[in-house]
This record gives sequence, C-alpha cells and structure tokens, in this order.
Amino acid sequence: MAASKTEDPTRLEKEIDDNDIDRKLWIAEVTRKCDGDDGELFPLPVTDPPNSVLNVATDIWKRLGTDVYPPSDDSFLLVRAIEKEIDLCTNARIVLEIGSGSGFVAASCAKILAQECIVLAVDKNPRATAFTADTIRRSGSTRFDVIRTNLSTSLKLRGMVDILVFNPPYVVTPESEMEGDGISISWAGGKDGRVVIDSFLPSVADLLSESGLFFMVSIEENMPRDIIDAGRRLGLDGRVCLQKKVSLWRAACIAVFSSRRLDFPDPPLSSPLFSSNAVRD
Ligand SMILES: C[S@@+](CC[C@H](N)C(=O)[O-])C[C@H]1O[C@@H](n2cnc3c(N)ncnc32)[C@H](O)[C@@H]1O
Repeated sequence: MAASKTEDPTRLEKEIDDNDIDRKLWIAEVTRKCDGDDGELFPLPVTDPPNSVLNVATDIWKRLGTDVYPPSDDSFLLVRAIEKEIDLCTNARIVLEIGSGSGFVAASCAKILAQECIVLAVDKNPRATAFTADTIRRSGSTRFDVIRTNLSTSLKLRGMVDILVFNPPYVVTPESEMEGDGISISWAGGKDGRVVIDSFLPSVADLLSESGLFFMVSIEENMPRDIIDAGRRLGLDGRVCLQKKVSLWRAACIAVFSSRRLDFPDPPLSSPLFSSNAVRD
C-alpha cells in the first residue's frame, strides 16, 4: 500500500479556529510529516482524529517511525464508532484491542470510556507492542497490559471482553505479503482482504461477555454484508454503525457485532456500501 501525497493537510488550516491549540498541533505534525518524507509508506490522514483524542494522535505522530501503523483515517473512524455507541459501552470493564499498532485506538478507548476499565492490547509485530505500551502510558492510563501474540490465540478471556476492537489488515494482497511480523502485516489481508478477518471471526463470540460488543473496520472489497452474514452463523448480531468514504479507500465501514440483539437500527442494506459500484460520503 504505497502512499501518495494526494491531499495537502495544510488546506485544513483554513478551517482552524485560532484558539484551537490541539488541532493546530495536530495539523502541524501532519504537515511536518508531509514536508519531511518523500516516500511515505502510509497515506497521510485526510480526516482529523476525534477532538477528544486529538492530543493522543499528535503525540504518536511526533514519535512515529516507519515500523508501526500510524493513527490513520480508519483508526479515527473506529474511535468515532465507539464514541457513537458510547451508551452501549458504559458498563465496560475489559477492553481488548487486537492489532493495536501505535496504540492510538487502545489509548483512545481508555480515555473515552474513562471508567475503571482495563485495556488489553495485542499485536504480532513486536515494535507495535512496545509502541502501544508507550502510547497508553503517555496518555495517562495505568490500567493496561500489552501482549505480543497472534490474534487472541494465547489469551484466556472466555466470556470476559466487554469491548473488542479490531482494525484488521484488510487490503487485498498476495498471501506472501502476509508473512512475518513486520510492517506489511498491518495492511496485507490476502484474498479479498479477508484472510485475517475470517480467521479471527470464529473467536469473537467466545471472547465477548454477555453484553460485549465487537467493533471492526472493513472496506467494500471485504464484502461487509458477507462478513455480517458469517458473523450471524457464528451467533453474532452484526450491524454497520458507521461508514465513510475516504480517499484511497472505496469505502470503509465499521461493523458492530454482539452476541445479543442490539438496539440500533437495521443496517442500511440498500445503501451504496452494499451495491457493487458506489460509496457514500
Ligand atoms: C491496520 S493496523 C491497525 C493499527 C491500529 N489498531 C490502528 O487502528 O491504528 C493492523 C494491526 O494489526 C496487526 N496484526 C496483523 N495481523 C495480526 C495478527 N495475526 N495478530 C496480531 N496482530 C496482527 C498489525 O501488526 C497492525 O499493527
């Protein structure tokens, strides 16, 4: 997934309120990155992080190298989805993020949920686990643990996870790109971008607590409706709770799954996300 400098983050400056220091710092970091490197590995974000966690994203971007996945548009969408469903998350005690990368989402969960929850994060990339631990610590949270493992295979958390979060490697790639534990596993999703998603899905119902929710990013190439159908066969009730078209993606969406019936409206099955050729902003 080679990045291109198609978007100029400085354009965002026009919209910045003079008093909005956090946002100014964020734009400055992205702009610095844009000016500094001529061969970015990842696309620079074209959307802003949610206001509540702008400072977490800025702090990470200051420390970033090229060995972990940076806070990106999909990471922001994921955090926005959790914020959107915050009423369903109020009693969460254990949060588990699979594939934590920079730790942006895990640290954001700790901030947003702001209660006595414990945040657990795992990644297969050892640089990501180290980075994640730093990020969560720097964001002020103390109740967390970060583990290097493949998906949830070495965890014994049956029925304990209240919020399960995954921004998986979803890009359609040759399977060879999925090998190892380096940066390419951040995006390489093999056939239909579904290989990692499909291998994790059967573990979800087992991990979730009675009122647990699973938030996952997917893109149109992954066939989100098919993922929701697969979840249903595994006892999970799935819904699209947020979707957005962002440059470089045909569409991204966040699906929420739970093992109980959720209280939000049916998925917009007629929406462009589920048709063959269009997306919705
Ligand atoms: C798209 S990045 C998401 C990073 C971060 N959660 C975010 O949203 O900014 C996917 C992450 O999953 C990790 N990953 C990929 N395959 C994995 C596996 N089998 N087990 C654990 N982590 C994995 C990658 O190393 C990467 O950090």
